[in-house]
Amino acid sequence: MPSKQLKQRAANAFQDVCGYPATTFVQAPGRVNLIGEHTDYNDGFVMPCAIDYQAVIACAKRDDGVIRLISVDYDHVQDSFVVNQEIKPTEDKLWANYMRGVIHFLKEKGYSLGGADIAITGNVPLGSGLSSSAALEVVTGQAMKVLYELDVTQSDLALIGQASEHNFAGCKCGIMDQMISACGEKSHALLLDCRSLESKAVHIPESVSIMIVNSHVTHSLVDGAYNALREQCEEASRLLGKVALRDATLAELDASSIEKGSDVYKRAHHVISENERTVACADALIAGDLQKVGEYMYASHASMRDDFEITVPEIDYIVEVLAEALGNKGGARMTGGGFGGCCVALMPTEMVPQVQAAIEAKYQAKTGIKESIYICTPQNGAGVI
Ligand code: GLA
Repeated sequence: MPSKQLKQRAANAFQDVCGYPATTFVQAPGRVNLIGEHTDYNDGFVMPCAIDYQAVIACAKRDDGVIRLISVDYDHVQDSFVVNQEIKPTEDKLWANYMRGVIHFLKEKGYSLGGADIAITGNVPLGSGLSSSAALEVVTGQAMKVLYELDVTQSDLALIGQASEHNFAGCKCGIMDQMISACGEKSHALLLDCRSLESKAVHIPESVSIMIVNSHVTHSLVDGAYNALREQCEEASRLLGKVALRDATLAELDASSIEKGSDVYKRAHHVISENERTVACADALIAGDLQKVGEYMYASHASMRDDFEITVPEIDYIVEVLAEALGNKGGARMTGGGFGGCCVALMPTEMVPQVQAAIEAKYQAKTGIKESIYICTPQNGAGVI
């Protein structure tokens, strides 16, 4: 559904529930990460782009200090609270927690807010590694920023979204998803340094297409697997005497007391090598060398499969089929947190039909699950629509 239709859907629901028209419309996109997985919370590098799937809000100020959240896609279920009272997570409306957290942390950072009616809709596939939760957080911050003319930067909105995810949703995520949702640039991926939050825009020419294949094997990052991986990385950097794995080299890992082949070793091996691949892959993309880009993407996938151990058989199979169809003309890998979700492939645009046909012929036949395929172009980050 293009954003115009999402906007209309939010506008209609707002009018139906609130009985008056919304004054303000904002969007925040989901993202696909081209390379750099589980590097963000290790102070490393990632290269995502924002995609044409979004969370959209229709909203208006209220002068009684009440914030009312309306979930357009779930039977107009509502959540409400008073902005100037303590805001806590709810037990039963998990979707609302992401939004409550953002409002809580905006307040905590000293921004002055009032009440609002907020109707939320979206089309970022849930639990698919395309950052539906970051889109929800960032769009909420964006709505309050516009309604109350807050002097908050897009990077700070991203940090506030991350704080919400840590404290109101329980996932100790890195900063990648919120940053790209808040700061994405049309026609570009961003090579983002997750330590300094500086980014470099990497142009994706029209001759290169981004294909996302959704395995429809879903995951929940809130279930603890993600946080456990993060702890193993932190353990590795402690044993290496580093502030973060960003600062370690493979030679240092090999010379350390960390036992080769242990889980902690393998996690560190992935992160350290993935950081190198991500920076090199950005250079290859800038140089227009799609064959090199492909080599880094395939290597990234192998590292996620063998060292980080976050792929599942369905995902490995999709990458196998993509690799077979693409050869050295492009590249493919799992994208996102892992345990299902989506794969991403970069390829010359003229190859899209044949690659798509290969997936359609093989994935369901092998797994019994029907995939979804999205061809995406990089979009701007959050803003008014
Ligand atoms: C999830 C997290 C991100 C990042 C990725 C893995 O999407 O939200 O911060 O760690 O997993 O790269």
